[in-house]
Amino acid sequence: MGTDAFQPVQGMSDFEAPEVCLWRALEASAREVFERYGYEELRTPVVEPLGIYLHSLGETSDVVTKEMYNFEDRGGRRLALRPEGTAGVIRCLAGKGAEGLQARVYYLGPMFRCERTQKGRKRQFHQAGVEATGAPNPRVDAECIALQVALLEAMGLKGARVRLNTQGAPHERKTVADGLRAALEPVREQLCEDCARRIDQNVLRVLDCKQESCRKIVAEIPAPVTFMREESRSYFDKVRTLLEALGLDAEQDAKLVRGLDYYAHTVWELTHDALGAQNAIAGGGRYEITFEGKTVPGVGFAVGMERVIDALRAEGVRDEDHAPSGGVWLISLGESALDANMELACRLRRAGIRCGMELEPKSMKAQMRKAGRRRANHAVIRGEDELREGTAVLKDLSTGEQRTVKDERLFEVGNLREVFEWET
Ligand code: HAM
Repeated sequence: MGTDAFQPVQGMSDFEAPEVCLWRALEASAREVFERYGYEELRTPVVEPLGIYLHSLGETSDVVTKEMYNFEDRGGRRLALRPEGTAGVIRCLAGKGAEGLQARVYYLGPMFRCERTQKGRKRQFHQAGVEATGAPNPRVDAECIALQVALLEAMGLKGARVRLNTQGAPHERKTVADGLRAALEPVREQLCEDCARRIDQNVLRVLDCKQESCRKIVAEIPAPVTFMREESRSYFDKVRTLLEALGLDAEQDAKLVRGLDYYAHTVWELTHDALGAQNAIAGGGRYEITFEGKTVPGVGFAVGMERVIDALRAEGVRDEDHAPSGGVWLISLGESALDANMELACRLRRAGIRCGMELEPKSMKAQMRKAGRRRANHAVIRGEDELREGTAVLKDLSTGEQRTVKDERLFEVGNLREVFEWET
């Protein structure tokens, strides 16, 4: 077997310490912020019926046509690994009647898209997101954006920018599409092959094309808002006024479109300049999704955790800064010290003190190195001499200062913290 046998599936990752420590810290701050804003956690399965995605994300969206991990199970059911969180959440809420139409839920977890892998594009990636269901209300949209900004701040990210647009009411979709089609038809030949096809299938997506030639054309045509009615414009104006009142900077981008079809009215993306081509850290918007004849309106967003981490690293955050630290490392010189320290470790841990030790005989140097790597505050060193004299050497690992203490002090569980905090 080649070394590839030890690698995860392409586009997916193993997460080890200390990287995983940064992940845990970010997940903890996401939960804290979501709950501060009154959202409750909802965990839906990673596998859902394929139909819910075909139906809600749009049959012509890239996610559905090119990126789904779908399969038939042993019973011939057509299933998919979730490519995003919203559809599954709404599937669950739609079944709950009135309660599901007034929900505020959040989720954290892996999503799967079989995209061409490149920097910032994974096949298993992770999102932290929220959904707030209920009739369209610009205050909920504005609060949702404020929550998202608060979340990124709590995660320690500084340089994210909000770009904002409207897709108009669902019943305006056709008018907007017709307007854009009329503007693009005369220049069809100059568009890339994909966009020429998009004119017929999903014309809004032309606005999102990254090809330079298409971007030039898109810059010249009227923005979708031009084809919308007054109600939609004033809904959008209200969202912007509220954001301004909340002191949030949101740049209007009249050509911003989102890759999923369920959006209506407000849409937004958060980008970070340090990220290169895949610079969207988060995206969201208002939507309407219909399941089994029940239409659920809502608004929400999802933050891409890998991209937040890339941006944090670009801003100088280090994984190690989030690794667990503190407590004590027991250093044993000789077999008898190993046995005696095992007993001490057991007591310390029972008393709630973070405590580690090697269970194999190792050199003093190797054990001290490990204590440093595990970021212990103190080391307790015991060898034959200390055991005989009933003492231990207690070392403060940040200052290097050490002193000999009577070992019964270490065993007096009530007294341990004091012993270890002797320095302060
Ligand atoms: P989305 O824009 O498709 O929206 O994804 C949200 C975020 O997930 C993106 O901004 C990006 O940071 C991250 N992301 C997406 N694909 C990948 C990938 N292949 N690799 C790494 N990160 C990725 C949604 O998923 C909507 N469900 C958001 C939403 C919730 N709208 C309303 N409610």
